[in-house]
Amino acid sequence: MYTFRDYYNNEIKLSFDYLPFSKNPKHVWIVCKYRGQWLLTKHKDRGLEFPGGKVEEGETPEEAAIREVKEETGGLVKNMNYMGQYFVSGKKEDVVKNVYYASIQALEKQDTYYETDGPILLETIPLNVKYQNCYSFIMKDDVLEHCIQYIHQHY
Ligand code: GTP
Repeated sequence: MYTFRDYYNNEIKLSFDYLPFSKNPKHVWIVCKYRGQWLLTKHKDRGLEFPGGKVEEGETPEEAAIREVKEETGGLVKNMNYMGQYFVSGKKEDVVKNVYYASIQALEKQDTYYETDGPILLETIPLNVKYQNCYSFIMKDDVLEHCIQYIHQHY
């Protein structure tokens, strides 16, 4: 397990075990690949980030992940694997988020991408994301680096 602080100085615990913090997580985050490129979305307020969001009533986290990828990027998930889970000790509330690795089979153009401006494809994730204004705060802690490392080791 890894423990570190995020962009807002909240404590995060990240683990690549199966559901270590909650069997019933309410948030999902999906690291996506499309034709060899990373698939992100541009959130209107937060900036560039991998897609994700909240699990809705009656949904499994996997269903939420597939829906969020589609809503925020137009991407259709081909394969998706559970990677890990992280716990954010927030100022107001705690957040438990499942992280998935997904390969995307197609990108469909949509009339709306909800709270985002839609898909962004990147050849590589820059090393200095932490210092770039265009990236979302959720890309600015060690979760990203550990997940990319995990993907390189396992896929
Ligand atoms: P909305 O209802 O969508 O507006 O959500 P919210 O602003 O209440 O935020 P949410 O419930 O998603 O998360 C609450 C707080 O947890 C955020 O303000 C962040 O501080 C923290 N948080 C949520 N997701 C992440 C994440 O992926 N990484 C980090 N570092 N913090 C997160």
